Amino acid sequence: MTAKVIPLDWFEPDISLISEAAQIIRRGGLVAFPTETVYGLGANAMDEDAVLSIFRAKGRPADNPLIVHVHSLDQLDGIVSSVTPLAEKLMHNFWPGPLTLVISSRKSLPSVVTAGLDTVAVRMPSNPIARELIRISGVPIAAPSANRSGRPSPTDAGAVFQDLAGSIDLILDAGPTYVGVESTVVDVTGQEIILLRPGGTSLEALERIAGPIKNSSSLEESKRSPGTRYRHYAPLVPLILWEEGESFLQDLPCDPGKAGYVGMVQPEKDLSENIIFKDIESYARGLFSALRDLESRGVQIIIAQLPPSKGIGRALRDRLKRASGD
Ligand code: TXA
Ligand code: MG
Repeated sequence: MTAKVIPLDWFEPDISLISEAAQIIRRGGLVAFPTETVYGLGANAMDEDAVLSIFRAKGRPADNPLIVHVHSLDQLDGIVSSVTPLAEKLMHNFWPGPLTLVISSRKSLPSVVTAGLDTVAVRMPSNPIARELIRISGVPIAAPSANRSGRPSPTDAGAVFQDLAGSIDLILDAGPTYVGVESTVVDVTGQEIILLRPGGTSLEALERIAGPIKNSSSLEESKRSPGTRYRHYAPLVPLILWEEGESFLQDLPCDPGKAGYVGMVQPEKDLSENIIFKDIESYARGLFSALRDLESRGVQIIIAQLPPSKGIGRALRDRLKRASGD
């Protein structure tokens, strides 16, 4: 099979086309769709076989649980068992948007979704196409990023097609996503909030609303977000990290004419392919497609600037470190 691609207008999507996608979800199929962060690969979260086919299509390890996407707070009833006041506060302030909450799960949720954990990750996306797709499907949608496991996340439909065209039914194509890195994941099962994955909602914004947040590095390995254990987001060629203030890689492991660079400041060396972003938001929005772009231009290595660790820079540093195997 080759996935059908349906172009959609970001702001005024044709509802009959979204209904076609919703039919596929209801019948147990797989649909890639845009969210504000990255493209997701969606299936009916309550259909065990459909969820299993997400893992097959991505080549994803079965012990890495999925995020369940909801359209309304009512939809949470069938998925989560108890919502703490702290979780409610975060929902109230940050949903819809790029924040995923790890909450106690309900037994009725197929255990493949949560990889057997007694918690479930839930999020309400803000992208209108994602929202309509979930609403019309009438079921919560389990969706990881729509890339082959280990590859950079897809921020446009072309990247989804490159990785998954042969193994999914449909791609809803609404052009590039806005945030560009995945949602922030926090555990809100206890008294305090634990940051499991930095992402599109900044730590500063969360702390302004909810006070100090603990970092998962202080947790034992098994309790951290399972997905953060794997090498991820990786281009096909080696990725080397460089931070402003450090000397710029004196001895490159290859001819500078065969090296690519991505960052916000000009590299001090003359490299063959450079992708420069004007600010941190554009860097976040464009990083994953820049990695795919540079590898397709045939470079032998990629050098990427590590941005300062604040705001969305935290998420970028996390993705870059894991992409480089650091
Ligand atoms: O922005 C996003 O979050 C995108 C879009 C499509 O919504 N989705 C996404 O999904 O990034 P994925 O599967 O690539 O990443 C989900 C992360 C993984 O690190 C996974 O381990 C973690 O969430 N996760 C899921 N369920 C969890 C749970 N019950 N406890 C702890 N971590 C969990
Ligand atoms: Mg992913």
